[in-house]
Amino acid sequence: MSVAWIAFHITDRCQLDCQHCLRDPELAPKDLPLSLMQKVMSEAKSIYRSAQVALTGGEPTLHPEFEGILDAIVAHDFTWHLVTNGKRFPRLIEQIRAVPERKARLTAVNFSLDGATEATHDEIRGKGSFREVMLGATLCTAHGIPFLLQMVINAKNVGEIEALGMLASQVGATRVSFSMLQPTGTLHDAALYLAPSAWRDAQDRIERLGAMLRIPVGMPEGFYTEQPFHVCEPFKSQQLHVDVQGRLNLCCQHAGVPGDGTRSDVAGDLHEMTLIEAHRRLLGIIHQAQVDKLGRMAKGPLTEWEHFPCNDCMKYFGKPHWEGDGAQGPEAQRERWRGAWAPTVKQGVVGDAVVGGSARAPRQLPLVRG
Ligand SMILES: C[S@@+](CC[C@H](N)C(=O)[O-])C[C@H]1O[C@@H](n2cnc3c(N)ncnc32)[C@H](O)[C@@H]1O
Ligand code: SF4
Ligand code: SF4
Repeated sequence: MSVAWIAFHITDRCQLDCQHCLRDPELAPKDLPLSLMQKVMSEAKSIYRSAQVALTGGEPTLHPEFEGILDAIVAHDFTWHLVTNGKRFPRLIEQIRAVPERKARLTAVNFSLDGATEATHDEIRGKGSFREVMLGATLCTAHGIPFLLQMVINAKNVGEIEALGMLASQVGATRVSFSMLQPTGTLHDAALYLAPSAWRDAQDRIERLGAMLRIPVGMPEGFYTEQPFHVCEPFKSQQLHVDVQGRLNLCCQHAGVPGDGTRSDVAGDLHEMTLIEAHRRLLGIIHQAQVDKLGRMAKGPLTEWEHFPCNDCMKYFGKPHWEGDGAQGPEAQRERWRGAWAPTVKQGVVGDAVVGGSARAPRQLPLVRG
């Protein structure tokens, strides 16, 4: 068996409060223990041919033992990449360069860039963020570190797909990638919503962009497909995802997102079971999802939204999803989760990160969908 990479959701901490983010900024942040990561890397090395780790979060660079994690990746003979908002990049570059093996094993820095213009990106992610990503890209180029830009498309930035592709090419990114927005299950979704026809139009434009640009253009998962049994990378076991609580789950789009309790995408707690046992259970969850889909198809044709694999997957597991002309899910009428899922919130500051509690007041957004 070959697993392309193990994705670790290493922390819930973040300095930002992006409009589209699936995390709940009011929850007391958790960090994935380094010891658990070491256990998983050891097991992955012996079971699979896997040798690649992806670090995500929250903002992965805010893990209190971030440098220890890099050393563990080196010690276990893995390569690595990370997804980052770019906020701490000058510090991160120093941490990477401090040990030559850390840099040698870094395959890419994935910067999130949600607009080709400062105004659009900063509206979604917060003032100053666009310039920080651009600085990060410049530093990567200066230090010979490959980087890519990834955009989550939504109603506010859908007009900037081509411009973002050209920007990525101009600043020296090795790749640009466009993802489909999953709803947060809050009133924020109203301002970010795109109809199925708009998604299909965006998909066509991305494909045309791919034919024009000299760098690869990616569309990871989620976009429309005729094939009802589309098999995504996690379903193929090409990616294994470990959430911030140390549990093997389906993927980072599910991690920490509350469902209605009818089904779980969590295979097991890796503190208590081996990776191979959790993986075996995960395959059972995936198999059941496919069997149940066949049952739904037998009852009638799939709706248009059900042809968007991630959306259909989120719906199946009782999580926020697009349906009809807007978002549906367990908390679709909530302004923001804002601690609704855990009553105890600790406030504090780690490094330059505000932890627990939001840096901004909750936004008041009108509900515009019917
Ligand atoms: C959760 S973030 C973690 C890494 C880092 N904090 C960042 O923003 O790059 C990983 C990626 O998920 C994307 N993301 C956040 N909310 C999303 C949503 N609702 N649907 C799809 N992708 C989302 C982010 O834009 C980012 O590119
Ligand atoms: S920077 Fe990443 S983790 Fe932080 S709020 Fe934005 S999308 Fe979420
Ligand atoms: S949401 Fe479901 S379909 Fe989409 S990548 Fe994750 S596991 Fe696959």
